[in-house]
Amino acid sequence: MEKGVLKGIVIGVIIGLLIGYVVASFFPVFKFQKEESLLEKIKKRGVLIVGTSADWPPFEYIDKNGQYAGIDIEIVKKIAEALGVKLQIKDIKFDALIAALKGGEIDLVIADMTPTAEREKEVDFSKPYFSDVFVFVSLKEAPISSIEDLYGKSVGVQQGTTQEDWAMENLKGKCEIKSYTKVYPDMVLVLERGDVSAILVSKTVAEVIIAKNPKLKIAFIVKGTEEYAAIAVPENAEDLKYIVNKVIEQLKSTGELDKIIQQEIDKWLKEQ
Ligand code: ARG
Repeated sequence: MEKGVLKGIVIGVIIGLLIGYVVASFFPVFKFQKEESLLEKIKKRGVLIVGTSADWPPFEYIDKNGQYAGIDIEIVKKIAEALGVKLQIKDIKFDALIAALKGGEIDLVIADMTPTAEREKEVDFSKPYFSDVFVFVSLKEAPISSIEDLYGKSVGVQQGTTQEDWAMENLKGKCEIKSYTKVYPDMVLVLERGDVSAILVSKTVAEVIIAKNPKLKIAFIVKGTEEYAAIAVPENAEDLKYIVNKVIEQLKSTGELDKIIQQEIDKWLKEQ
């Protein structure tokens, strides 16, 4: 008798599961659905949301019409195009970009950002699309042409950047290091005002800034500071990263990236 009851329960459970399965397959709402990938989300939304720190010409800045402009902006336009979606840009403080990406506020970061080991722990990076070195910019008349000339003086860096890291490692105790949230125009203004003796930026950025500012010069190039720029995407967004990499590869191999770089430098120089 007891065996019979047990058998009944087992058969009952099996039949119940079978019915449940059949019902569930008719109503997809009951199904266990795979979580939507970021790429699927972007396509459904119809908009790619990009974070940048628009203070770094010729990579990203706000032009005289109040529009985002620069090399990085042109690159993400191509990515949005490849995805078949619109583009929305959010201007975020450089040192808050990674957190915004991790928090899902933006889909990717393009900000001439260097894939450092520390950042790699938090997000993923595309293939590199640019390489550069650091330079110090000072007033033309300032007697600065080597690191030693900066000792005892104050230098400006952007908060959260590899330039800030470099200054902390190499100048701490020798210079006063002042960190700012925006390079252009803020750090350029404090330099002109004499609040700092020099600012540390990338060579390409320095060149376009001094080209429009006769008071400034590149004081010297900093040895051993070669670094790359890449696009940051969230971890586990392989399908998005794949397309980002494909666009970068294509822009490089067709020579279009070089054209964009030249065109955006010229555009910046003609501004204002
Ligand atoms: N390459 C440097 C870094 O990754 C500086 C980038 C600054 N970019 C900007 N949009 N302000 O830390």
